[in-house]
Amino acid sequence: MDSISDPKLFAVAAAFSLVGLAFVSTKLASFVKALLDLYVFSGIPLKKFGAGNGAWAVITGATDGIGKEFARQLANKKFNVLLVSRTLSKLETVAAEITTESGMEVKVFTMDFAKGDPQDFARLGDLIQTLNVGVLVNNVGTNHDFPTPFAEEADQVIDNIIQVNVKGAMSMTKLVLPQMLEKKNGLILNLGSFAGLVATPYLSVYSAGKAFLSTWSQAIGTELRPQGILVEHVNTYFVVSAMSKIRKPTALIPLAKPYVASVLAKIGLPCGADVPFTSTPYPTHGLVNWVINNVFSKTFWVNKNDSIQRSIRKRALRKREREAAAAHKTN
Ligand SMILES: NC(=O)c1ccc[n+]([C@@H]2O[C@H](COP(=O)([O-])OP(=O)(O)OC[C@H]3O[C@@H](n4cnc5c(N)ncnc54)[C@H](OP(=O)(O)O)[C@@H]3O)[C@@H](O)[C@H]2O)c1
Repeated sequence: MDSISDPKLFAVAAAFSLVGLAFVSTKLASFVKALLDLYVFSGIPLKKFGAGNGAWAVITGATDGIGKEFARQLANKKFNVLLVSRTLSKLETVAAEITTESGMEVKVFTMDFAKGDPQDFARLGDLIQTLNVGVLVNNVGTNHDFPTPFAEEADQVIDNIIQVNVKGAMSMTKLVLPQMLEKKNGLILNLGSFAGLVATPYLSVYSAGKAFLSTWSQAIGTELRPQGILVEHVNTYFVVSAMSKIRKPTALIPLAKPYVASVLAKIGLPCGADVPFTSTPYPTHGLVNWVINNVFSKTFWVNKNDSIQRSIRKRALRKREREAAAAHKTN
């Protein structure tokens, strides 16, 4: 093979090789770090936030799916739990299950976050003031009924998403911060979504609301870190639940139980996320997050979301038509 004899050409080739090497090494190092976070390292122990020491965890949207699992697992890790949700009967059932399973103290508070009623938050604030809160899980969330163009989306759906997913998280955080600041200790988990990582056409308000949570978590995380409070935006791909409308788990779509176990085991580790105060702790989610950050462009991924949501919308519309035809026949 001919060597490069022109010294200028040689210098250019060497410079390109060095840049290439630095690029590949940086990517490789970030991939290895993601693997270590996901499969080897342990997160900050929950004891730091008062587990086993009389502290309370407050969980919103705690009667179903991911929120219910947070409540169960935090109680099993020796937190007393305050469950905040919409339906009293479901709250009472879940509270009884958790008390029996964990032996911890459980309180419930009924409110509809979509109403955004300041009196609800004031009453909840009074209750929270009487408890030693170590952890807040801002889990409650709502979504578009199915993929819908923004121009056609009902104003009520848009308002609900902003009230529940965005304003709910901020109001809840305001309720726990005074005592966390006083103690200089606390953990705030904000449930995020890949829809906030990559803009998702046809779920535009949900997607933007989750992007808000991501940016807001980074901003307040930075403000609060020197005060001993850890804010973590938990980036989530699909999980089996009523909201996802997915019933069967797969390698990429876990049940809520293993998903929440991974969150609680990896507190403080990015696990594939590359923005501050963010974690993607479920192993396959973390790997997908790494790929999205490092392979192809954001435009590629937005276009991918576009085609996925268009096809879901087509199927949802066909299902609606079939249901309408069946209802017409029976009438
Ligand atoms: N599942 C996924 O694939 C996925 C993916 C990414 C992110 N996430 C996020 O994870 C969080 C939990 O989702 P999930 O799938 O577990 O949801 P879910 O199974 O639908 O459960 C939602 C919970 O929130 C409560 N809730 C809903 N609307 C409420 C309201 N207006 N006021 C008070 N409580 C209300 C429900 O109570 P009722 O039973 O009384 O309705 C229920 O306890 C959400 O923030 C979601 O955006 C989920």
